[in-house]
Amino acid sequence: MKRTKIKHALNAETPMNEVLIKGWVRTKRESKDFSFIELNDGSCLMNIQAIIDHTPDILEVLEHVGTGASVAISGQLVESPGKGQKWEVRGQSLEVIGEADQETFPLQKKRHSDEFLRGIAHLRPRTNKYGAIFRLRSELAQAIHKFFADKDFFYIHTPVITGSDCEGAGEMFRVTSLPAGKGDTAENDFFGKPAHLTVSGQLSAEMFALSLGDVYTFGPTFRAENSNTARHAAEFWMVEPEMAFADIYDDMELGEEMIKYLVSHMLDTCASDIELFAQWVDKSLMATLETILESSFERLPYTEAIDILRKTKKKFDFPVEWGIDLQTEHERFLCEEKFKKPVYVYDYPKNIKPFYMRMNDDGKTVAAMDCLVPRIGEIIGGSQREERLDVLISRMDEMHLDKEEYWWYLDSRRFGSAPHAGFGMGFERMLMLVTGVANIRDVMPFPRTPKSLEF
Ligand code: 4AD
Ligand code: MG
Repeated sequence: MKRTKIKHALNAETPMNEVLIKGWVRTKRESKDFSFIELNDGSCLMNIQAIIDHTPDILEVLEHVGTGASVAISGQLVESPGKGQKWEVRGQSLEVIGEADQETFPLQKKRHSDEFLRGIAHLRPRTNKYGAIFRLRSELAQAIHKFFADKDFFYIHTPVITGSDCEGAGEMFRVTSLPAGKGDTAENDFFGKPAHLTVSGQLSAEMFALSLGDVYTFGPTFRAENSNTARHAAEFWMVEPEMAFADIYDDMELGEEMIKYLVSHMLDTCASDIELFAQWVDKSLMATLETILESSFERLPYTEAIDILRKTKKKFDFPVEWGIDLQTEHERFLCEEKFKKPVYVYDYPKNIKPFYMRMNDDGKTVAAMDCLVPRIGEIIGGSQREERLDVLISRMDEMHLDKEEYWWYLDSRRFGSAPHAGFGMGFERMLMLVTGVANIRDVMPFPRTPKSLEF
């Protein structure tokens, strides 16, 4: 017999004479003549309850059935007299697939702290909360592809190993095939030049936007920034659309449309999982998500944002003056207290932004935009790109970039250059937004952060 996933069994239209369920035991309760087993197979939040009459054979098997064990139960799917579930299994046979030693199995029935569960990241997807997070993560990834496919964007696989530093922040991990401590000159190395893990697929994506029109990349990116915060990981996934014949306003519009689409898709498809988070993780989750859907995002020039931050009575740890990069406390003030909805800040000082952003006519700011959302701060960072070859070259000189290294990038401005714009959205930050989860480590299967490379 083929196994039925619990999700499908629980959604059955009619009883079933024969059903085979396989999963992990959440609880077992024994009474005199029969036992209840709650089984979860990860297909959905809910467990299915199985009731098994005690026969001498079954009693023997039951001795090996503890919390965490994997078992197979076959029997009938019948209407459940109990509250909370429509169907249950009347088990006729019970087989233990893999035992779990009750003395050492770390997941007990009580609630465990997130810190504790981080230490057993290999087992935490077996809990309700983390099972739900990773089902939501999967759905969110699918939704991103659907959003872009519906808008005729092409999905480009940009390389993970790269020779250039897109953001120019020097936060790259080196890639080498040389043994540690030996002949560490780049010429002797695998690629014959310095190689790194990509911090962003943008520069490659730009080449494809200037060929295929509208494109996006969606893949892992790496940053060696030593910031141990709840919003930064050394390896994270980024969604990066890039559009030809588009400016910074088109860019902000696309970001707003995408965030709204993703929120509404997740509410439509994953209601029961999201309700779990609204109940247990963030009581204001539904209100936050509704605000996102209903509001039109504020669009605020950086210079005005600085004015607002200087005029408020609120005290910040980082002093505010024109020219600073906004800190999380500033970003959160703007969207949580001042506007109470997502806020785009745009036209940032050129000195705090990378070389590729388009210079504005004032000569002081560039066409950069960040989207700030409640609880998280920056979720999107993007810009209109500098399409004018001479301006781009003088920016690169100003920033002491080696133009030889970027010959191919500059070619795109030599041959049929066109205005274009794009952004990067942190995939994990989006997942934090829709779940209310406060720490990025808790929405990643095996997070990579400073001094942490377990699993
Ligand atoms: O603002 P960032 O650095 O922008 C870029 O990399 C551009 N090249 C993107 C583009 O225009 N195509 O990063 C974009 C987003 C941030 O807004 C944030 O959501 C996320 O990526 N992000 C991180 N997420 C988790 N951990 C980190 N260390 C992150 N750094 C950035
Ligand atoms: Mg940024």
